[in-house]
Amino acid sequence: MRILLGVSGGIAAYKAVLLLRLLREDGHAVRVIPTASALRFVGAPTFEALSGEPVTDEVFEDVAHVPHVALGQGADLVVVAPATADLLARAATGRADDLLTSTLLTARCPVVMAPAMHTEMWEHPATRANVATLRERGVTVIEPESGRLTGADTGPGRLPEPEEIARAALAAAASAGPSTPGDGPPGDLSGRTVVVSAGGTREPIDPVRFIGNRSSGRQGAALAEAARARGAAVTLVAANLDDAVCGAARAAGVVVVPVETTAELRDAVRAGASEADVVVMAAAVADFRPADVPDAKIKKVPGEGPAPLTLVENPDVLAELAHDRLRPGQLVVGFAAETGDADGSVLEHGRRKALRKGADLLAVNAVGAGRGFGAPTNAVTVLDGRGEVVTEAAGSKREVADAIWDAVTKTLPGI
Ligand SMILES: Cc1cc2nc3c(=O)[nH]c(=O)nc-3n(C[C@H](O)[C@H](O)[C@H](O)COP(=O)(O)O)c2cc1C
Repeated sequence: MRILLGVSGGIAAYKAVLLLRLLREDGHAVRVIPTASALRFVGAPTFEALSGEPVTDEVFEDVAHVPHVALGQGADLVVVAPATADLLARAATGRADDLLTSTLLTARCPVVMAPAMHTEMWEHPATRANVATLRERGVTVIEPESGRLTGADTGPGRLPEPEEIARAALAAAASAGPSTPGDGPPGDLSGRTVVVSAGGTREPIDPVRFIGNRSSGRQGAALAEAARARGAAVTLVAANLDDAVCGAARAAGVVVVPVETTAELRDAVRAGASEADVVVMAAAVADFRPADVPDAKIKKVPGEGPAPLTLVENPDVLAELAHDRLRPGQLVVGFAAETGDADGSVLEHGRRKALRKGADLLAVNAVGAGRGFGAPTNAVTVLDGRGEVVTEAAGSKREVADAIWDAVTKTLPGI
């Protein structure tokens, strides 16, 4: 892929160097386009040496090749990391006062921006409005992390790690990539773009241990393959799926984006969702993650017993998607893997979840005791957002997938 890496003038500009390395190691041709301010943080020779391409912020260099137009036109993906408050403002208002902003106006490929700034700048109504405008225009704006900022202060505004930005950017490119609307077999999802998450997320405890769950991802993979067979462009965000399951999905024409943690899954799903007509959250995401993950393996000290494990809550990816609707008219489908207990049956728990999450459809299935996770068959009851039964299906995971798509196509506007 031909990637343009825009870098604007924030303290996190040094992380763009690591992002550049990751993208190059992944086999992409990368040209860095810094702003003048970015070059005050990181010198052009660093970007030039690592990319093997010329680096300038100027539109008046190499004018014979008209770079202010040609670079954007020839790109498969534009990533801006870090994106300063100023860069977001200039992009949102259509300014073209340097090579990077001119390129943003001429690029017709996916554009991904990773903002980084102080919390006050990030939360200012002007920045919020600029981000909303960019998102409306189809730009994927990655949420900054909460954490240590330039000085001793902390809060939302920190640039995510380069690995996460690379993953989200490649996912955005993939959802606009080889599996494109209209190139699939004709079917009732022709021309539609779909993102399906599958598998179970893993939350690291230390570099060798994790908290996980028993989801095999086969139901999600079946949903992705069924959607592709019905004509959709499909991205499968695959949380720790077997290579064989990913390989089968790829062979069916599905773009597979592997992820490990809930945070990675959230970024990848949201990156794809900004282009999607339907998002299906079939993955079993961890509700909690360890608060602190040491760099080294936690050692057993004989006689001392285990150190207490403090957990913090993960974002509710499904509820966020249902709330945010990253594309107008988007249909959001959730899954509820339930075991009945003293507080209610599987269906009663599913009904409560349907009301709580705000998704359009919720596929409820009983798990545990050999059912659901890892089994070749499944049985689901599909509820609408009010908890009313829409349909019931049982059989192979592919048959269940098709029954869910039948329910989706009846609900999706314009089908
Ligand atoms: C030490 C330092 C750190 C800065 N960090 C940031 C930052 O993280 N995010 C931001 O939006 N602006 C930051 N700024 C302000 C920008 O550099 C300034 O708004 C500049 O005009 C941005 O230009 P650009 O968007 O063309 O790169 C910082 C400035 C300095 C001096």
